[in-house]
Amino acid sequence: MYVDEGGIAPGDGRVESEFERYLEDPGHFPDPYPLFHRIRAVNPIYRATNGLWCITNYEATHAALKNVSLSRHEGAISEVLSLRNEDDDLETSKAIDSFQNFFLNLDDPDHLRIRRLASGPFVPKAVQKWKPLVEDVVRNILDEFEVGEDFDFVTRVAYPVPERVICTILGVPSSDHELWNRWSNAIIVQNRAERSANENRDAAREAFISFDGYARELIRERRHNLGDDLLSFLISAEEEGKGLAEDELVATLILLIIAGHETTANTLANVTRLLVENPDQLEMLRDDPALIPGSVEEAVRMETPATGGMRVALEDTEVVGNKIAAGDRVMTFITAANHDPDWFPDPERFDIMRRGTHLAFGSGMHYCLGAPLARLEGEVLVRNISQRVTFEMAGRETWRPNHLRLVETVPMRLAARRQLD
Ligand code: HEM
Repeated sequence: MYVDEGGIAPGDGRVESEFERYLEDPGHFPDPYPLFHRIRAVNPIYRATNGLWCITNYEATHAALKNVSLSRHEGAISEVLSLRNEDDDLETSKAIDSFQNFFLNLDDPDHLRIRRLASGPFVPKAVQKWKPLVEDVVRNILDEFEVGEDFDFVTRVAYPVPERVICTILGVPSSDHELWNRWSNAIIVQNRAERSANENRDAAREAFISFDGYARELIRERRHNLGDDLLSFLISAEEEGKGLAEDELVATLILLIIAGHETTANTLANVTRLLVENPDQLEMLRDDPALIPGSVEEAVRMETPATGGMRVALEDTEVVGNKIAAGDRVMTFITAANHDPDWFPDPERFDIMRRGTHLAFGSGMHYCLGAPLARLEGEVLVRNISQRVTFEMAGRETWRPNHLRLVETVPMRLAARRQLD
């Protein structure tokens, strides 16, 4: 195991310089895995020149995600501060602050209190009640295509599936997805390489303000018209007589829309592309549908959309022998950890029979609440794709130029419909 208290790597420093360039300008690294392998081999817990600890191996990523001294809340505060303007009025500051009130961005005990109130509908057994809905959404979308038609899988299938599903679950008009598609994009992808830092910042500010107004209005209406949707559940959820405060409710609604949006859409696009590009694996699960869940897990490992986000040490702590001082910032690169060859031999190979737990849904207290829903959507899509259609790639996929591993386009062709059901 590599241990270096100062975070200074051995060698001639070329790998480190290259990694620094990646941190500055990820757009120039559309395939980051070779670089991740190089930096991991030299120093898997690399201290960047700006002081950020960058973790790229499995063992330390897992340890950091589980380390409760590394606070997501403190990490979020620094991001929120960078979005605030001095002359913001109360309403604007509140809207921007909702980001740090996402329970993803809170530490315990508040994190645990809110997570418990929201979690009932997301446990694996409860999620099964949404299976007919997901099945319906997937079939309707796949029925839209003509045999021989070329289309972009990302915009026509990968985004619409989770959007329609979460809209129906929350009881939100489906037409609204165009609005929050734009907002969540501006928030999640704050560091778009093609825009200047100021443009990115303004777009994220604008998105928070619009999202906040939208969520408050929706909650106001729903309070007068409670149904059996997820938003009504959140409004009514109580534990020991205490429910969510209004600002917590707003933040939770926005979080649920954002957290499962880009991540699930990317996973649906990636699993489909990987299966089309690996016909032997596709044939295996056509013969044995019990392998379908493994294909979704393998796709989310191979092309992990979410990093673990920024954390800040609340006190002196350590991550596999490396001393992290109070106040230090730590970034886990889950995308890199899921390609650590010590845990996943031949990591760039798509293997639906692979064993071993990936970290794509995180680990520890912030483990993804929506993982059972994301898995359900992935499995239903793969079953439909493997049994009802034959797809071909109609070109190469493209990636968005930023730190997250997000796909931009996946050109696809419907080559044939299968007559199996
Ligand atoms: C393949 C799809 C998805 C991936 C890869 C993913 C990934 C993640 C990761 C890595 C975290 C932990 C972040 C950290 O520890 O810093 C997380 C947390 C979370 N995810 Fe997901 N997610 C996905 C889908 C969803 C969906 C569909 C929803 C809900 C509709 C959702 C809701 C959440 C929430 C609420 C949290 C915060 C949990 C907490 O702080 O306790 N996610 N997700």
